[in-house]
Amino acid sequence: MRSLTALPAWQDLARHFETVQSLHMRDLFAKDAERFQRFSLRLDDLLLDYSKNRVTRQTMDLLVGLAVESGVEERRAAMFDGQRINVTENRAVLHVALRNRSDRPIRVDGVDVMPEVRRVLEQMRVFSEAVRSGAWRGASGQRITDVVNIGIGGSDLGPVMVTEALKPFAQDGLACHFVSNVDASHIHQVLKGCRPETTLFIVASKTFTTQETLANAQTARAWTVAALGEDAVARHFVALSTNREAVAAFGIDTDNMFAFWDWVGGRYSLWSAIGLSIAISVGFGRFEELLAGAYDMDEHFRTAPLAANMPVIMALLGVWYIDFFGATTLAVLPYDQYLHRFPAYLQQADMESNGKSVTCDGRAVDYQTGPVLFGEAGTNGQHAFYQLIHQGTRLVPADFLAAAKSQNPIGDHHRLLLSNFFAQTEALMTGKPAEAVRAELTRQGLSGQALEEAIPHRTFAGNRPTNSLLYAELSPRTLGRLIALYEHKIFVQGVIWQINSFDQWGVELGKQLAKVILPELGGAQPVSSHDSSTNGLIGHYKALR
Ligand code: F6P
Repeated sequence: MRSLTALPAWQDLARHFETVQSLHMRDLFAKDAERFQRFSLRLDDLLLDYSKNRVTRQTMDLLVGLAVESGVEERRAAMFDGQRINVTENRAVLHVALRNRSDRPIRVDGVDVMPEVRRVLEQMRVFSEAVRSGAWRGASGQRITDVVNIGIGGSDLGPVMVTEALKPFAQDGLACHFVSNVDASHIHQVLKGCRPETTLFIVASKTFTTQETLANAQTARAWTVAALGEDAVARHFVALSTNREAVAAFGIDTDNMFAFWDWVGGRYSLWSAIGLSIAISVGFGRFEELLAGAYDMDEHFRTAPLAANMPVIMALLGVWYIDFFGATTLAVLPYDQYLHRFPAYLQQADMESNGKSVTCDGRAVDYQTGPVLFGEAGTNGQHAFYQLIHQGTRLVPADFLAAAKSQNPIGDHHRLLLSNFFAQTEALMTGKPAEAVRAELTRQGLSGQALEEAIPHRTFAGNRPTNSLLYAELSPRTLGRLIALYEHKIFVQGVIWQINSFDQWGVELGKQLAKVILPELGGAQPVSSHDSSTNGLIGHYKALR
């Protein structure tokens, strides 16, 4: 594999950067009345406006050239073909099969996975409908009022984010809760509001070996058994996993298990059985709409030319800022309260996927890869960290998301919200030059030294890049499109950076060391097997507990 920085397109971009870095978007807009049309894309009602980026037509052509030279089209075909593109785990990467709404077979090693996918979806439909209708009862004959998903990482963040995003569609009288942290306070707080007779636990773990999840599941089991007896487990516990043996060993009847497969990555798994809590919360029909939305985006990603392909364009812009402008972060800013967990969800999707420093063939990269992703629902972020985005020393590219229609059209709230969305992206782009500040303050009566002192503090450089994603409303279908958009964006960036976006060895070392430390925390004897800091911390803990 040729080194990324040796590719002709990369070198062209490096040269081109020298001329573009000093351009101001204000001037680019002033010179080109068609800039919005030129740099925006649509998929039905979903609009991606990327005109407020520090790019020219030539930049975009060169970036698309980089995608071509990096083999994005070939890698995309390999993913959809079920090839084992997750090289370090020797696995296919087929979350697209989970939402394949067509008759197209998708094969792994020659075997079409679609019949199995459909079988589990049908099992999810039957079960979710039984819980929602009250046909599925607890051991004492009462209907389920509370569903507790126990999982962590990809077995938690996707379902949490989606059930929050689709709250307007949730069934009354059926609450969904999520327990992830091994900190007992998490499960304690959730169980405090539940009754064993009416609570269903979904133990969600791809591997069924994750310490946090098994500890929480044991606690939930003990809580259930203490109230209802051992036999109640079959009516109050189901499992979502690829590991049948471990589910059985835990004591959950494998008839109550919903399977998925090793070609579903944890952070790409909400479309699989891991989405059971979503289907219970909003109904299986809406879960299918979510899948259909993702399928829309899959088809767009699979078939649209690179230059008109939303995930590809967003990926390339990210590479442009990270590798040429030196940006280290990405802000994701949904002007949509229901998307308040979207940044947290994307943190795992992006940072666990592209937080890598070695290429697929084992070379250390000599360029930057995945960004630090953060975000908050607008307008809360405006009153917290936007100051740094507007006037700080760092370039913080940001994605803004909003729906044209509110799920709760109360008074003037939505227009207030959207006026902030539009104003922020405009302000970040145009900034406020010193002359404009001077004129404004003079009008307000300021003069002399006071005026001169005030100007630098109130000047905004602008030229801060943003993408805007605007859609009709946050329906399940739209949400599916948005999630798949980011999934594919992350994939394209991984291809360009030549890294494996589908493993996560970086989380292993901490897990291994925790296993060593756990037994050392018992007893009073001092621990001396680590560095002095770790020994000291353990000693202090033992003294305080
Ligand atoms: O954080 C590491 C990780 O392996 C994630 O990739 C995964 O989503 C999470 O742990 C949970 O894993 P499991 O579903 O196997 O419990």
